[in-house]
Amino acid sequence: MMNKFIEIEGNDGTGKGLAISQVIKFLQEKNEIVISTREPGGTPLAEKIREITKSNEISQNEIFAENTELLLMYSARSQLLENKIKPSLSMGHFVTTDRFSTSSFAYQGFARGLDLGNIEMLEKMIVGKYAPSLTIILDCPPEVSISRAINRSALDRFENQKLDFFRTSRAGYLEIAKSDPVRYKVINANRPISEVHMDVLEVLSIWYKNLIN
Ligand code: TMP
Repeated sequence: MMNKFIEIEGNDGTGKGLAISQVIKFLQEKNEIVISTREPGGTPLAEKIREITKSNEISQNEIFAENTELLLMYSARSQLLENKIKPSLSMGHFVTTDRFSTSSFAYQGFARGLDLGNIEMLEKMIVGKYAPSLTIILDCPPEVSISRAINRSALDRFENQKLDFFRTSRAGYLEIAKSDPVRYKVINANRPISEVHMDVLEVLSIWYKNLIN
């Protein structure tokens, strides 16, 4: 059965923020209650984990082990699921999230090169049947998306990665999308905002129609 859980994904600087505002507006106009969150984060403890994962300072003093990074992502996810996502879905609300597990597969799996089977194991343990029924992936060449991120604010530990990291995470996103074309919808984000928004709206309308029927 489809759940009311939407994940917005893509490399840093692909325009996720705008797409999320659009999703929220679409659902609110249908008089739906929407709980909006982000990953890593969304609860007080998960936000503390977010600060740790994004901090440039930690890697100045010690190696930030890749498995630590993965486990921190799933720790934050566990907190968010138990405290916010599961209760909201059980009340019949919609939940939108700026990133979720697809980021772990794209960043820790494809870009860092961690074993995908291990990530799948964590996914089964922590997320289980609560995977989003719709994942919108905003796709953009990393040369374009990272320059948008640079113009926005100081770069965090992830945004400071080399271009190749984002090339691999992008390829990862596209590979993941192929595994389940019903859940994953890839939208070309290297176009004027109005065109991207039209595609987001189309994907969303079809998904919503299927959900309520
Ligand atoms: P953002 O909220 O500004 O996108 O920052 C979150 C960063 O964390 C982003 O660079 C992607 C990264 N991330 C992972 O590497 N793995 C994950 O599972 C998640 C949720 C995020």
